[in-house]
This record gives sequence, structure tokens and C-alpha cells, in this order.
Amino acid sequence: VYHTPELVPSDAIPDCAIAIDVLRATSTMATALAEGAEAVQVFSDLSELLQVSEQWPAEQRIRAGERGGATVEGFDMGNSPLDCTAARVQGRRLFISTTNGTRCLQKVQKAKTVLAGALINRRAVANYLLAQQPKTVWIAGSGWEGSYSLEDTVCAGAIAHTVWTESGAKLDELAGNDEMVAAIALYTQWQDRLLELLHHASHGQRLLRLNCHEDLKYCATTDILDVLPIQREIGVLVSK
Ligand code: MLT
Repeated sequence: VYHTPELVPSDAIPDCAIAIDVLRATSTMATALAEGAEAVQVFSDLSELLQVSEQWPAEQRIRAGERGGATVEGFDMGNSPLDCTAARVQGRRLFISTTNGTRCLQKVQKAKTVLAGALINRRAVANYLLAQQPKTVWIAGSGWEGSYSLEDTVCAGAIAHTVWTESGAKLDELAGNDEMVAAIALYTQWQDRLLELLHHASHGQRLLRLNCHEDLKYCATTDILDVLPIQREIGVLVSK
């Protein structure tokens, strides 16, 4: 099932939930773990992040804060995945708070398995689903302050399309799940022009105004990271 941000149910617990924030939180988390971060710890509240990370050895932490697309003053970095170089993150814990992505993860954190997905690690997420075959799967888009987003929807479609075609299931088995049918349709229409689609997205436009062209290019690339961020304890993701 694909849920747009305002419609993530609060009264059910799926076997597996995949939080998606292509631009850019889950792309950043996947990159940090791929570059050797020990873990990623997510916060919706900036001051709570500062408080908790204060108790962590300074040389073993990196603090990322983003609001409205921009870096929060006093933090080591904002939310650009391109800032997550090995030199910066290896062996460290990334403490991160972003406008929507970290909140989306918190909304689904009670699922039996919680994953962070993006276009860059779509294959790793799809392989997990194909191998484990969890019965109930939610893909939760982060959107922007509760609203729908093109980039998270196309990523949900990309994951689902891969799983459905490779498991031999028929797409008509999705009948009744309107959000997912639409997500797959969006993906099949745009799969060869994902960067162009991200340029049309409202948050893509916001990031372009902030000169984040390279971030869009990177986040629009599929399957470049073989990393699966998985929740080890509430709010803490590690590489599976
Ligand atoms: C978010 O959490 O809203 C995004 O990741 C924003 C961003 O692009 O930094």
C-alpha cells in the first residue's frame, strides 16, 4: 500500500514500512550508511537532537539539521547527501532532523520492520521485499508538510514495479489500491526521465532555487547504492 503523508494510518502496524524522502532525507541517510556511518538517528525536534547528541563523543558524531531546504545554523551540515563523504561520516553517528523525512520515519516507526528507501537504493529495498515477502507493506511518502509529492510517489512506484514484475505477480492484483496504481503509472511514464520529473516537483523547484542542482541529479539516479537502512531500535537506523 502506498500512503501519502497525511494518510499514514495511526491505528495499524504493518509487517514492513518503507519511509521515502527522495528529496532528500532518505537519500542522505542511505548515502551516510553507504559511506560508513555507524548509524543514523532521527529527530523531529532540533533541540532534542542537540540534547541527545551532546552526550555522544564529539569525534564520533555529525549533526545534520535542515528546515525549508536550508541548513540550520550551528549544525555540521544540512541535508545534502553529497555532504556525506566517507571522510566526514565514517565510523560516526549521523544525528539528523529534517522538515518532513524524519517525521515520516517517526510515523511508521512501530512497524515490525522499518526501512528507508530512495531511488538510489531502490534495488536493495526491492530485493529485501522479494526475499522476505512481508505480508503487509506500507510505503510512506514524506511529501511536504503533509502534502503529496511527485518524487516520493515515483519512488514508491519504482519499488512496487520492480517487486511486482520480478515476483511474477499481476499488476491487476493491485486493483483497489488507487495510490499504488497511480504511483506505478507515474513511474512507468517517467522512468527514463526521472531527473526531469524531479525538476517539475515543487520541492525540486525549491531545491533548485537553493542551487542544489547536483543533489537533484544524484537523488534521481536509480540503484547506485547497495545499502538498506533498517531500524535497529526506535529512531536508529543501521545498514543491514
Ligand atoms: C525533508 O525532510 O523535508 C527534506 O528532506 C527536505 C530537504 O530537501 O532537505
